[in-house]
Amino acid sequence: MEALDRLSQLEADAPARIAAASDLESLAQIEAETVGKRSPLLEIRRGLGSLPDDQRREVGRRVNEVAQLLGSLIAQRRSILETAAMEEALRAEEVDVTLPGRRPPRGTRHLIDSIQQEVVDIFVSMGYTVATGPEAETEFYNFTALNIPYTHPSRLESDTFYLDYGEVPEGTLLRTHTSPMQARYMELNRPPVYIVVPGRVFRRDSDSTHTPSFHQIEGLAVDTDITFADLKGTLAHFARLFFGPDTKTKFIPHYFPFTEPSAEMHAYADGRWLELLGCGMVDPAVFGHVGYDPNQVTGFAFGMGVERLAMVRHGITDIRALYDPDLRILRQFR
Ligand code: PHE
Repeated sequence: MEALDRLSQLEADAPARIAAASDLESLAQIEAETVGKRSPLLEIRRGLGSLPDDQRREVGRRVNEVAQLLGSLIAQRRSILETAAMEEALRAEEVDVTLPGRRPPRGTRHLIDSIQQEVVDIFVSMGYTVATGPEAETEFYNFTALNIPYTHPSRLESDTFYLDYGEVPEGTLLRTHTSPMQARYMELNRPPVYIVVPGRVFRRDSDSTHTPSFHQIEGLAVDTDITFADLKGTLAHFARLFFGPDTKTKFIPHYFPFTEPSAEMHAYADGRWLELLGCGMVDPAVFGHVGYDPNQVTGFAFGMGVERLAMVRHGITDIRALYDPDLRILRQFR
């Protein structure tokens, strides 16, 4: 009898195919072909009605038997494949939480910034406080208040960057030194004054030891009975802290319009004398400009170039290396 033979065939063949299904997709395919809507099983079930009574019962029983067997084999196989698929997905998404994280590259202070900080710290340790002022200045604070005459060469367009804000009330410019803060600070504060002023300054200069913009640290000490010995002691102490305890210093006469007497301090480092800074006793004319009584107070001032300190300490011969965007240069000074 044809239907019973087909059922036996199915019962004999299908279990091996089901067991061999390697993934859920091929199992679904086998399911459709064996017990699905277009399967021989369904076809036989649909034909039951047209069978003679005696056969219908026997074939119907076998259809159910085979359908039940295959259905449960398919369900078993499906659950095995689902578990395997889940495990595979978990393996694929596995994260090792013990791996070290990816660190962003560590940044570093620019050499100019760290030297500036170091110098400021030395003076703060001696009781000075930090003041800062504008980079765009008036001619008054940059020159006039500092006793720099109208005829002084540093006032020339060839040496100074002038700004075009009109006459307010004098010309405006990019400060050529940090000294204008001497006047600004004294105008607003009564003595005693002990300040350092780090900041950016600008000059029309460009070669291997000059850049149009560079950094200075100004110092100002005003009190009763300050002498040139205080100036020498303070700056020699600074040099020893900055360059090492055996650093020798000497003071050479110089001229600045806003100090009298004026000097340059040189330090002995690497077998030679190096000019480090300008300094002097605050000129009474400057006290006059800011409303201090020159008979009541005395003081000293100094100004040093930060780039210069960096170059001396690290043996840098071209100042432009400090402004080179190649990070390998800066990383040497970490
Ligand atoms: N302002 C001077 C300069 O730029 C340095 C200086 C500061 C000298 C204070 C004396 C006193 O060269």
